[in-house]
Amino acid sequence: MSAVKVVLISGSLRAGSTNAALLRTAGDLGTGHAVTTLYAGLATLPHFNPDDDHEPLPPAVADLREKIRTADAVLFCTPEYAGDLPGSFKNLLDWTVGGGEMYQKPVAWINVSSFPDGAAGAHRALRTVLGYTGADIVDDACVRVPVPRHAVDPDGIIRDPAIRDRVDDALRLLAEHVRSRAGDTASDS
Ligand SMILES: Cc1cc2nc3c(=O)[nH]c(=O)nc-3n(C[C@H](O)[C@H](O)[C@H](O)COP(=O)(O)O)c2cc1C
Repeated sequence: MSAVKVVLISGSLRAGSTNAALLRTAGDLGTGHAVTTLYAGLATLPHFNPDDDHEPLPPAVADLREKIRTADAVLFCTPEYAGDLPGSFKNLLDWTVGGGEMYQKPVAWINVSSFPDGAAGAHRALRTVLGYTGADIVDDACVRVPVPRHAVDPDGIIRDPAIRDRVDDALRLLAEHVRSRAGDTASDS
């Protein structure tokens, strides 16, 4: 099959976000496992309202759904706020429940928390919500890669080789899962 397309979705709106930095870094790897697109519309989504979940959709929602629909897989990276998903990110996920784009879509997440068992509540909740969408959770690619704030360079990229290797590994596993589902087990090279 052609290159595996992965849309990268961060759950953080913070300018210096470590979650967004990790996903930006995934796009910077250049190892060829996947072609990535960093979703940048989280702040523009309206509050989820089932009354608005029909055509014509709010443009930001249509854009989100199109990005997911045209991707082979989704890689999430989210912080935890007060033991749960950030409200803005849960809002994004709520918009994905009714559209059907996530159904059987291979998905994974990377937990960047530096604390042992950090952000566990958020990732439990993420698994629950993705279960409602019918997404295909690729457990092998769901990993913890601690990212201290000082690991993010001023340009928002992480250059620590150990972190980059782990991100590359997760992306490879996600891409391999997509390929195996497509019945194409050809190597990445
Ligand atoms: C209001 C608030 C609540 C937080 N609650 C939690 C929490 O419950 N569990 C946790 O592991 N981290 C918590 N944190 C820490 C953030 O998840 C952490 O700062 C994370 O790096 C933010 O991600 P970002 O760098 O991508 O913005 C909280 C931070 C804030 C500002």
